[in-house]
Amino acid sequence: MNFTGRDFLRILDFSEEELRYMLETAKSFKQMKKTGKNHKVFPNKNIAILFEKTSTRTRCSFEVAGYDLGMGVTYLDPTGSQMGHKESIADTARVLDRLYDGIEYRGFSQSIVDDLAKYSDVPVWNGLTDECHPTQALGDFMTIEEHFGYLKGLTLAFVGDTRNNVANSLMAMSAKMGVNFIACGPSELRPSEEIVAKCKPIAEKNGSTITITSDIAELNGRADVIYTDVWLSLGEPQEKWGERIELLRQYQVNTEMMKRAKDSTIFLHCLPSFHDLNTSIAKDVNKVFGLEEMEVTNEVFESDKSLVFDQAENRMHTIKAVMFLTLYKKEDK
Ligand code: CP
Ligand code: NVA
Repeated sequence: MNFTGRDFLRILDFSEEELRYMLETAKSFKQMKKTGKNHKVFPNKNIAILFEKTSTRTRCSFEVAGYDLGMGVTYLDPTGSQMGHKESIADTARVLDRLYDGIEYRGFSQSIVDDLAKYSDVPVWNGLTDECHPTQALGDFMTIEEHFGYLKGLTLAFVGDTRNNVANSLMAMSAKMGVNFIACGPSELRPSEEIVAKCKPIAEKNGSTITITSDIAELNGRADVIYTDVWLSLGEPQEKWGERIELLRQYQVNTEMMKRAKDSTIFLHCLPSFHDLNTSIAKDVNKVFGLEEMEVTNEVFESDKSLVFDQAENRMHTIKAVMFLTLYKKEDK
């Protein structure tokens, strides 16, 4: 297996064995972190992390993972750099490529991160695009495996906006890991036929299934993991809230849905989440539409079934693994 110099742009670019190796590497790094074992293996490397959309978990995970590996980290957003408004992504990539050993990018279309990878020789890591969120799926599968002790044969149900970036990466990761995947949401927000067509044969090969449904009863007695995400993603127009709420309110994850699944079912969410009124967006939506909680009830979010903060932590360990594997060269000790 050779990861050196490779980009991490989407889950489907990696084989089952490579993804498994990433998870094992993340586990080792988590152990090292917990036991205080120094792993500053890259004291002479620097990375740039580019954010065209806001972030807490992804940004902090790349920064902390970078520092833990001994690297220098530069954070750039559009307000603090020329990126996007005064300098194209291709030119930015070719500049950063001369200065840094790796580049992370979070932004809009997948073609931007693909272009960054094309125009730079150093590894480029996808920190979320409109199309996918591969580091999220890796962290989530680490969390699921930590909890159940295995992955193959489990059933993961993504409920809500099933054509969003997180759902796409979870479908791909499920197919690769032999996990059954249920996309449960309104027909208007179904995953693209293209992604389903790519994932189905992979799932079949690994002994799992992909189900696309609008019926929440399909989760009953079946889902080991119920996963949801915000109803309106970063970059989507705020005017769409009304339409989304209409489409998605029946897909809210609540205690009833959790109970009907299995006693052992866990709840996951990539975060941030609108489970109460403690954010300005939730307050604005509440004023207009009267909802006090959106994609998940506060009861489920705060319950002992909810592993959302384990997920958030595992983002860092898995991102560290991805950076380590793609940056490591023989001359690094
Ligand atoms: N889950 C996730 O990517 O969170 P951030 O948007 O805070 O990075
Ligand atoms: N689907 C969400 C994920 C955030 C981590 C978004 O793109 O905003």
